This record gives sequence, structure tokens and C-alpha cells, in this order.
Amino acid sequence: MKLVGISGSLVGTKTAKAVYEVLAAAKSADPSIETELIDLKEFEVEFVKGTPLSYYKDDTIKVVKTVLSADALVIGSPIYQASIPGALKNLFDHLPVDAFKGKVTGIVMTGGTDKHFLVAEHQLKSILSYLKGLIPTTNVFVHNDDFNQDNELASSEVSARIKSLASELIALQKGYAGK
Ligand SMILES: Cc1cc2nc3c(=O)[nH]c(=O)nc-3n(C[C@H](O)[C@H](O)[C@H](O)COP(=O)(O)O)c2cc1C
Repeated sequence: MKLVGISGSLVGTKTAKAVYEVLAAAKSADPSIETELIDLKEFEVEFVKGTPLSYYKDDTIKVVKTVLSADALVIGSPIYQASIPGALKNLFDHLPVDAFKGKVTGIVMTGGTDKHFLVAEHQLKSILSYLKGLIPTTNVFVHNDDFNQDNELASSEVSARIKSLASELIALQKGYAGK
């Protein structure tokens, strides 16, 4: 199984860190899983302009192809203005409408206020569903205060949810694949 994590932040490192933790938890639960993290900060994904993918530059093609090559995904998004960042939405706009068919798409969201913990439900789930992703019942919300000064996750509650998301994601994907 190839599990691809996406970090949708072009600003900080918290989202990438949280997604990495889910990939690590999945790998620890099943060492045969191949993992790859796509940190959007490291790529220049161009705005969608309605042409075939081959007309875009290498970074855009690499990111889209890696996402499409996944058997399962962990979508990591910071919360921006009570929604998802434009950079992440732009990546979704590059994908065909059945991009996530047969794939489990787990959610990790980072935010600066607990009041926005439902943003994943209203802003992200609908897009993943539209792209035919199967969404685990567990998702992970990480508040900025859950990180310590060294930018490590320092909340046992969040770590437990990360483990739970990883194991549910694996179980669902194996069930989907009939394994
Ligand atoms: C432009 C912008 C808008 C933001 N809007 C919100 C928001 O509406 N709600 C919230 O909880 N946090 C908001 N935040 C805080 C980020 O979601 C939070 O700091 C997150 O951990 C950043 O992740 P990163 O370190 O991966 O960039 C915003 C941050 C930025 C830069």
C-alpha cells in the first residue's frame, strides 16, 4: 500500500509535522506500507488554467502524479479564514473528479483556535467526498498549543488520535482492497 501525505501549508511547519506523524504511525503499524510526504511548501504548484497536465511545469506534474499514485492519503490542512488554504484547494482543482475513488482519505487539520475545529467537517470533507474519497471516522485536529517550543507534538491526546487515524486508515484501505 502506498500512503501519501499532503501538507497544504506554504507558511509554517506544524501541518507537515502532524501529517508526518500519521505516516510514521501507519508505517509503525504495518512496515510494508510505503509512505511519501508531499509538502506543498517545497513545490511550485501552478494555478489551474484548464489545460492538460502535460502543459504544466515539472513541480505541478510531480505533485499531481504522486497524489494520483496513492492507494490512500492523509490530507493535512492548516485552517485559513475558517476554511482551507487556497494552495490546497488549487491542488484539488488539478485532480479529476474521481481522483480518490477506492482510496481512503484521512484528515489532519491544524489551527490557532479551538473554535474552528469543525472546519474539517464543513470545508474539507465535502471536497474529499466529491472526489470520491472514503473518509475515516477519526480525524485529527491539532491546536498550535499542542506543539512545544521545539515544534514537536506534545499532546498525548493528539498522539492517540494520530495512532487511531493511522490504524483506521489502514483497516479501511485493506478492506477496500479486499485484503
Ligand atoms: C492567513 C492565515 C489565516 C488563518 N486563519 C485561521 C483561522 O481562521 N482559524 C484558525 O484556527 N487558525 C487560523 N490560522 C492559524 C493557522 O491555521 C495555524 O497557525 C496553523 O497551525 C498553521 O500551520 P502551519 O504551521 O503548517 O503553517 C491562520 C493562519 C494564517 C497564516
